[in-house]
Amino acid sequence: MSIRILALALLLWAQTGSAAEPSLGEIPGYAFGSKALKTAPYTLQDLELLKKTVLFTEEDAKWLRKSKAILEPQAEQILDTWYGFVGATPHLLYYFNDKSGTPDSQYLGRVRLRFIQWIYDTAGANYDQQWLDYQYEIARRHHRVGKNRTDGATGPNQIPVRYVLGLVYPVTATLKPFLAKGEHTAEEVDAMHQAWTKTVLMQAILWSHPYTRKGDF
Ligand code: HEM
Repeated sequence: MSIRILALALLLWAQTGSAAEPSLGEIPGYAFGSKALKTAPYTLQDLELLKKTVLFTEEDAKWLRKSKAILEPQAEQILDTWYGFVGATPHLLYYFNDKSGTPDSQYLGRVRLRFIQWIYDTAGANYDQQWLDYQYEIARRHHRVGKNRTDGATGPNQIPVRYVLGLVYPVTATLKPFLAKGEHTAEEVDAMHQAWTKTVLMQAILWSHPYTRKGDF
C-alpha cells in the first residue's frame, strides 16, 4: 500500500461517524422536502414509464422496504466500502479535491452523511413528487449547475455523466454481501439485490437530466 493510499484510508476512516442514524436536522445540506427545491423537469408519469422500462414493479418496492432493516445497522460499513472504492480510484477521488488538488476532508465528511441518508430514502421506496424533486436536486449537485454549492467546496465543478452512470455497477454489486447478512434465503437476497440495482439505475438516469440537451432526455 503506497503512503498516499494509506493516508487516504486514514482520512476516510476518520470520517466515520457514530453508527446511529443522524436526525434530519443534523445532516448538513440535506434538503429532501425543502420548498426551496426546483420542481423536477420530469413527472411522476414519466417515472412510471421509466419503472416499466427497467422492469421495476411494486414487488421491487416491497423488497427495497424489507432491505432497510438489514442495511440500516450496516450503513457505516457500506459507506466505508463505497468511499474505500472511490478513495482508491484516483480519477474519481479527484472530484472530492479542494482547489489545491488534495482531498477535501470536510466535503467528504458532509457528503458521507447525506449518502447514508440516501440509503434510507432509497430503501423507503416512496416515489412521490418530493422524492422526484430531490432526485433533480441530486442531479444538479453532480453537475456544474449545483456541484460544490451545498458545502462551499472549491474543487472540480462537475462530475462527468459517464462516471455517474458507471458507478451504478460498483454501488449495487458491493451491496449484495451486506444484504446477505440478514435472515433471508438466497432467493430473497437476490430479489432485494435486483430491486436495488433497478432503483439505482433509475436514479442515475434521472440524475443524467442536467447533462442532456433540451428535449433529449
Ligand atoms: C450510481 C452513482 C452514484 C450514486 C448512487 C451517488 C450518490 C450520491 C449521493 C446520495 C450524494 C449526496 C446527495 C445529497 O446531497 O443529498 C452524492 C453527492 C456527491 N457525489 Fe455522487 N453518486 C454517484 C456517482 C458519483 C460519481 C461517479 C462521483 C465522482 C467521484 C460522485 C461524487 C459525488 C460528489 C463530489 C458529491 C457531492 C456533490 C455536491 O453537492 O457538491 N458521485 N452522490
